[in-house]
Amino acid sequence: MSEIVYLNGEFMPLENARVSVLDRGFIFGDGVYEVIPVYSRHPFRLTEHLARLRRSLEAIRLEAPLADAEWIRLVHQIIERNAPEDQAVYLQVTRGVARRDHAFPKGVAPTVFMMSGPLSTPSRELVEKGASAVTATDFRWLRCDVKVTSLLANCLMRQRSVDSGADEVVMFRDGYLTEASSSNVFAVKEGVLLAPPKNHLVLPGITYDVVLELAAASKVPVEVREIGEDEVRGADELWLTSSSKEVLAVTTLDGRPVGDGKPGPVFKVIHGAFQEFKRRIMRQAA
Ligand code: PDD
Repeated sequence: MSEIVYLNGEFMPLENARVSVLDRGFIFGDGVYEVIPVYSRHPFRLTEHLARLRRSLEAIRLEAPLADAEWIRLVHQIIERNAPEDQAVYLQVTRGVARRDHAFPKGVAPTVFMMSGPLSTPSRELVEKGASAVTATDFRWLRCDVKVTSLLANCLMRQRSVDSGADEVVMFRDGYLTEASSSNVFAVKEGVLLAPPKNHLVLPGITYDVVLELAAASKVPVEVREIGEDEVRGADELWLTSSSKEVLAVTTLDGRPVGDGKPGPVFKVIHGAFQEFKRRIMRQAA
């Protein structure tokens, strides 16, 4: 079965999907997106992903092309039309096709695109061993809370980790932890889970919220506050969270071990709770 995508009202094989070179997504990166994980054909936290999409559209002053009920129907349809049981639905809205001009075009329909590939979560080996990360100064813009398709800075960051053989980049702005190139970052010190606040400098991750809920339910003490670079470097544990990484321990930072260099005890509690939470949702959906 070939991959089926959705473009502007129609489902079609991936290889048939075409957009104009004048699409503002192509010319300016003028668009927003979502990545929704799907477990056993059940979209995870869909309401929350759609609420974030609505906020992203508002932030870039683009009128929502579809109502939530229509997005929900389309997301279910694309899942149905693709083979994998676990998928990552990618959804993108751009400001449409117009002659190149920075100012917004008038009366132009947005481009709506969705695709869904297999969801690739970390292997058991990676979960048990932990990931590696390097650090960098966060040089992105000041609206990192908006999930925009213009991701050049994030791509440059991610490539930096590739160049040094690491899995991710942990970023600091003005001496404080922000996030990673495509994930949120948490630290643990003396049993307390530390989370950077959700502000304009980080993407409000859907997984971030799930982790805070699971920490509360598991009676893990939490502090949501700015975390200094020294605290990150001296942390007992560091984690990455995202829709595809779920919750993943970072066990080396800039080549040095984090804590004792193994995924820590608080990670194990929350990772276990996350897996159980997923199983519960799948049972409810079945
Ligand atoms: N990335 N921070 C950044 C910069 C991200 O790109 C992402 C997600 C996250 C985590 O958000 P969530 O928990 O909602 O996935 C944090 C997605 C998966 C991507 O761009 O592929």
